[in-house]
Amino acid sequence: MSQADDHSGNTRRDFLYYATAGAGAVTAGAAVWPLVNQMNPSADVQALSSIDVPVGDLAPGTQMTVKWLGKPVFIRRRTEEEIEAARAVDLSELPDQGAENANREGADASDENRTLDEAGEWLVMIGVCTHLGCVPLGDAGDFGGWFCPCHGSHYDTAGRIRKGPAPTNLPVPVAVLDGDTLTLG
Ligand code: FES
Repeated sequence: MSQADDHSGNTRRDFLYYATAGAGAVTAGAAVWPLVNQMNPSADVQALSSIDVPVGDLAPGTQMTVKWLGKPVFIRRRTEEEIEAARAVDLSELPDQGAENANREGADASDENRTLDEAGEWLVMIGVCTHLGCVPLGDAGDFGGWFCPCHGSHYDTAGRIRKGPAPTNLPVPVAVLDGDTLTLG
């Protein structure tokens, strides 16, 4: 795992905070992030409001976590099964019925309103639990999405809160996918 806390350059690599591995890398981040974030505000990163992330190599069923504006951002390329599971959910089952998507203000929390593309392959979210700010684990929890071990919040494969104390869905930041490049901000 590469926790690239060396921000001495301005290349995109600086923002590839974790390798693309997925659950293992994110697990380590769960406990570490708040501390790292506090101790290392990294002014150069804070100053950049927009970054490009190459995502073409991300395999379906995996995610990468990048650091953006001092926060972890989950970029997941979902499998057909993950998409189907998310789209089968009735909105009435959702504690938070808003999309929480900065690209679709005011939209409802249907899966189609959570993803960047119509097919639903690309899900991008701020990776900070909406309860008290821990970093949830990927590929975990009762709904096959993310699980926050701090107080037991379960998110589904669309990053929507389903069980536990977190009040809202994981927020989707301003993002655009153009070919193999994801632009955050
Ligand atoms: S911070 Fe995630 S459940 Fe409390």
